[in-house]
Amino acid sequence: MKILLTGATGQVGFELKRSLQTLGEVIALDRGQMDLSDLDQVRDVVRQVKPGLIVNPAAYTLVDRAENEPELAHRINAEAPAVMATEAIRLGCPMVHYSTDYVFDGSKQQPYVESDAVNPVNVYGQSKLAGEQAIAAAGIPHLILRTSWVYGMRGKNFLQTMLRLGAERDELRVVADQLGAPTWSRTIADTTAVLLAQARGADQDWWDRNGGVYHLSSQGQTTWHGFTEAIVTKAGLACRVTPIGSSEYPTPARRPSNSVMSSDKLIQRFCAIPEWEQALYLCLG
Ligand SMILES: NC(=O)c1ccc[n+]([C@@H]2O[C@H](COP(=O)([O-])OP(=O)(O)OC[C@H]3O[C@@H](n4cnc5c(N)ncnc54)[C@H](OP(=O)(O)O)[C@@H]3O)[C@@H](O)[C@H]2O)c1
Repeated sequence: MKILLTGATGQVGFELKRSLQTLGEVIALDRGQMDLSDLDQVRDVVRQVKPGLIVNPAAYTLVDRAENEPELAHRINAEAPAVMATEAIRLGCPMVHYSTDYVFDGSKQQPYVESDAVNPVNVYGQSKLAGEQAIAAAGIPHLILRTSWVYGMRGKNFLQTMLRLGAERDELRVVADQLGAPTWSRTIADTTAVLLAQARGADQDWWDRNGGVYHLSSQGQTTWHGFTEAIVTKAGLACRVTPIGSSEYPTPARRPSNSVMSSDKLIQRFCAIPEWEQALYLCLG
């Protein structure tokens, strides 16, 4: 099977390239080969590759900058996936797409489940939700995997920033009133591979029963402050980690105060997902 993988240079895309290897021939494309802001190019590349499966981790992920570039964020996160889904109809191929905890507004006191009402509070979340809706509306066999607080050893992410700042400074002041689950990019990729191994050769009935939206986040929950404390401890850094409120660290985009998601649906149907702290320790080695 030919697997068209977008965003091969991203945190999740890079890991997927490795995790999906045993499932087929992975055609891993970067922005230069398939620019999601160019919808004609997206259509042409899919037609050229003729994949048996599309896996789309590429996204406009600059949450704050999206407030000033709503059209670009929407094109990349909603219109490009819609084009891929339209092409998937023609090819009769399934699609795996990634979405975000930021489709929720954070007002729930418990972990969010897949059937909870969505209500994004920032442009990025709105654009990702529109992408989900476009794929669902296309009526193709699909998996939409919502994840959260993604980090890894490569690319720009919270872990890398804290490792750098923690080595430079005596004190890190970090937001302690947003709850979520840091998720290692490798956890996302490996779990995707487990799901796809089960979907391999599956008929429409399998997709009718198992397709749709799943939450794919580390188990457990913490705050950005708790995440930083764990990073500093594990990395053996000497700096102090001081909790602050979101009001002391204003950002252009609002963030939900609770974006913890329950991954129970995925765990019950497919496989276990590690605790966030275990995964962090594995990632840091
Ligand atoms: N990062 C998070 O904290 C987070 C949280 C929740 C959900 N998610 C979702 O998880 C998925 C994977 O995210 P990630 O963490 O792997 O993101 P990432 O590390 O920021 O990678 C994004 C990828 O998308 C590519 N990309 C951006 N604009 C593009 C364009 N116009 N055309 C083609 N490619 C483009 C980037 O290419 P370049 O390398 O060229 O920039 C990069 O390969 C996304 O759907 C994201 O929305 C992420």
